[in-house]
Amino acid sequence: MTALVDIHLTGADADAALRADARAGLTAYPKHLPPKWFYDARGSELFEKITELPEYFPTRTERALLERSADEIAVASGADTIVELGSGSSAKTRLLLDAFRRAGTLRRYVPQDVSAPALRDALDALAADYPGLELHGVVGDFTAHLDRLPPQGHRMVAFLGGTIGNLLPPERARFLRALRATLRPGEQFLLGTGLVVDPAVLVPAYDDAAGVTAEFNRNVLHVLNRELAADFDVDAFDHEAVWDAEHEWIEMHLVARRAMTVTLAELDLTVDFAAGEAMCTEISAKFRLPGVRSMLAGAGFAVVRSWTDPEERMALTLATAV
Ligand code: SAH
Ligand code: AVI
Repeated sequence: MTALVDIHLTGADADAALRADARAGLTAYPKHLPPKWFYDARGSELFEKITELPEYFPTRTERALLERSADEIAVASGADTIVELGSGSSAKTRLLLDAFRRAGTLRRYVPQDVSAPALRDALDALAADYPGLELHGVVGDFTAHLDRLPPQGHRMVAFLGGTIGNLLPPERARFLRALRATLRPGEQFLLGTGLVVDPAVLVPAYDDAAGVTAEFNRNVLHVLNRELAADFDVDAFDHEAVWDAEHEWIEMHLVARRAMTVTLAELDLTVDFAAGEAMCTEISAKFRLPGVRSMLAGAGFAVVRSWTDPEERMALTLATAV
């Protein structure tokens, strides 16, 4: 079956959003950039490489958790439509698709991602491997376009991998409110969260020995060079991952190795970096289960059940919109 693809984020929309984010973030102190700009075609490929690194445990832990719990999730949910936000390669999602098919309810899969190339590749592979499954892709931003998700079916919205942790607390609260507003009572939300673990395990997951995460982090500078005619000397920035114990999140930085002046010709903007200046490119918040439950309850969801791996590194929580 050929996949339908809705475009909620055109090239022109993305260009305008990148310009606004780059101007705001590079003229702020401390400087910061939103993580969604990592994910051009190369960034999405680098993320897939990260998921295979020995240090990066979240993906393989969540996959193992899905292997054990997907059938229970399918039975508890009963949804005929799985919507997935930030779906990327949709690789782990296949465990859910298979389980919902075994439960006899699955009709439709709706992956949504800001990265059009990643979404198209995922849809092509799924169309080949899941004949008869209705595929409806959405190129969109889950911080902006939830109200435009296709309404068909009894939906379970999956948000996996701990990606909710990449939202700052106010963005997270806005996201949950918008998601609840878009769902009908009885529809569900399946949330994957990274849990608070020993920083000795966590920090290497974001600063691997092979330097793949460093390349992923620096990729945002390649995006700015290409899209905004900027002249970042990409190799003059060091990757840094820091555990912030107060906020319980990892902070990824790009640290200027020397003083630099960078021009973004498309923005008519010149930005100075001091030697050693750190720019925040991502937070990856980790959660505690009671906090996940109260966050969901506060947003108008009733928690059905949570599943965790034996080492309690990742959790999946199924909740119903009330
Ligand atoms: N869900 C997959 C991929 C996680 S990587 C997994 O668990 O492995 C994060 C994904 O979210 C990427 O595919 C990225 O392109 C997408 N993404 C990041 N910010 C986004 C946003 N604001 N809106 C929609 N997708 C976003
Ligand atoms: C997509 N997201 C959940 C990843 C994370 O772990 O926060 C992104 C990532 N950043 C560095 N490595 C992986």
